[in-house]
Amino acid sequence: MGRKVVPCLWDFFYIFAFLSGAFMEYRILFVCLGNICRSPMAEAIMRKMVSDAGMSGRIAVDSAGTSSYHLGDLPDMRMRQFARQCGYELTHRARRVCSDDFSDFDMLIGMDDRNIADLKELAPDPDAEKKIFRMADFTDIHGLDHVPDPYYGGADGFRLVVEMLEDGCGNLLKMLLESLDKKGTCDS
Ligand code: 4NP
Repeated sequence: MGRKVVPCLWDFFYIFAFLSGAFMEYRILFVCLGNICRSPMAEAIMRKMVSDAGMSGRIAVDSAGTSSYHLGDLPDMRMRQFARQCGYELTHRARRVCSDDFSDFDMLIGMDDRNIADLKELAPDPDAEKKIFRMADFTDIHGLDHVPDPYYGGADGFRLVVEMLEDGCGNLLKMLLESLDKKGTCDS
């Protein structure tokens, strides 16, 4: 069998995918139950903040759900409408969090106790468990220890989600930027 010497389009694709991932210094995965309300909202907010800070090449953001209720769905219509009013376009398709996510991401950030418990169950080892964080720990604007599930509630629930996530993502980004700054100082 002859060895292939001329690279094809797929080879370039894989090299590009590898390199673009290799330069990411932080990979953040937001996690909720359905991956159609809170976590895709967090993903969109964080992505915009990261982009505004000129850090899209260094901080990667994604979201996932602990359930498979809405696999492949766009975010909930009410969340999308509220997001649009606040200047965010939600285009994520729901997916389920998996154990590989613990090697693909540096932080897995759950929205409530149930998400955190499910993530702990999924974590392949104690080191992976250390990557689990609680979104509410990044914000205290409403004095809550979780980001409440808005799915069965009214418009106020969606507003609360955006308020908590905007504040929390802002604080999270500040921490990441400080950490990248320190890394840069140490490296040089
Ligand atoms: P999320 O909200 O976890 O913020 O995406 C929910 C979405 C769907 C369901 C529950 C919560 N559900 O039961 O279908």
